[in-house]
Amino acid sequence: MTAIPLPHVASARGSYLYDEDGRDYLDASSGVLNVNLGHGDPAVIAAITEQLGQVAFVHRSQFSSRPLRLLTEQLLAVAPAGTAHVEYANSGSEANECALRIALAYHHRTGSPGRTVVMSEQPSYHGMTAGALTLTGQPAKVDASFAPLLTNGTIADGSRVLPAPGALRAGRQEWAAALDRAGRERVAAVFVEPVGGASSGAAPMDDETLRWLRAEADRSGFLLVADEVMCGFGRTGRWWGCDHAGMAPDLLTSGKGLSGGYTSLAVTLVGARVAGAFDKPLGSVVLGHTMSGNPLAAAASLAVLRRLRADELPARAARLGAGLAARLAVLAAKHPVITAVRGRGLMLGLGLAGRPEHPLAVSRALVSSAREHGLVLCPGGIDHVTESVMVAPPLTSTEGELDELARRLDAALDTLASRTTSAVGAVPA
Ligand SMILES: Cc1ncc(COP(=O)(O)O)c(C=O)c1O
Repeated sequence: MTAIPLPHVASARGSYLYDEDGRDYLDASSGVLNVNLGHGDPAVIAAITEQLGQVAFVHRSQFSSRPLRLLTEQLLAVAPAGTAHVEYANSGSEANECALRIALAYHHRTGSPGRTVVMSEQPSYHGMTAGALTLTGQPAKVDASFAPLLTNGTIADGSRVLPAPGALRAGRQEWAAALDRAGRERVAAVFVEPVGGASSGAAPMDDETLRWLRAEADRSGFLLVADEVMCGFGRTGRWWGCDHAGMAPDLLTSGKGLSGGYTSLAVTLVGARVAGAFDKPLGSVVLGHTMSGNPLAAAASLAVLRRLRADELPARAARLGAGLAARLAVLAAKHPVITAVRGRGLMLGLGLAGRPEHPLAVSRALVSSAREHGLVLCPGGIDHVTESVMVAPPLTSTEGELDELARRLDAALDTLASRTTSAVGAVPA
């Protein structure tokens, strides 16, 4: 809930949203890093409309469909090396639940039912369903009343991996110590965000640590799961966040950019070794939901994926991201509240000088001052160390839009600076 009334959206085109009073807002967060093609893409609208006129729903146990078949083909063409199977879900949270179930079922079937510990990092965000919520490393944000939901049988004490004091992400040393603590023979899976989402304000994982975890997973027998719900599908300037480290996980979950915000669809990409451990096709193990992989969502996502591939939007994100990071560095030199410019491609974050006594107040104040200046930003961070905002416009943005983004952000930062310290502190929690 927010104390500041939200604008009422009336329409949207490309990188801009318009409210009912006709004000425009430049979307510097692509919704929540999902509207990667911008709004109102004609090819996606045409694909959805055509599919709606043919068949919107079939259950995957009764029929396959042309869009789902083509989407699966296209996904396998861009998936990390060794991907053998695509499992569909409706949200990133569900895709992570699916990865959890596959990991536990894999160890059961390969003679290691004692591998039940699943590890994840803090800060992290993996979703709101019970298993995904349990993996989420945000103690101050995850409501204490949810505790009975959390699957502590799987996520044992000590399986949360913390960064060194003052650091944003855990490195090899912290991971090694945590694996020692948990006992490597008990670990079923390790979940990582190759480029952190809102919980760390786009802090990338160190590539060397990621490669070390890959090697450690092979040595010790646990599965490496990359949660690329936010950073997948070209957002970071490569197809996958893992590509920056040149490694492929055992399981990769993604969502958001797959459908570009036009519908709900998420995936768990399964590597050959894991898929091969099941004596019947993985899809027939109980994994999905009623709407998983329905033809309408598949048709929309197929159109999004075709556009991502045809227009080489991951490479465009790399190119535009370098220019945007340079513009943000200019703002950082001018505004002392910005402590860092970080991220990859068009998944950028501004570290902010947070105040320990009012964690996240500065981030919230900047988001609302940006809105006053017609700019949409996502808040980031779980405490004053990670306090940040995400800057992540659509992959289809123009150079002119990035100039305008920097201009509006500059004005928002001026407004933030002009407000008194007490006014910042008074921003509602
Ligand atoms: C890294 C990551 N994992 C999982 C999720 C959960 O996805 P959803 O909101 O679609 O359930 C999110 C959502 O922001 C995310 O950023």
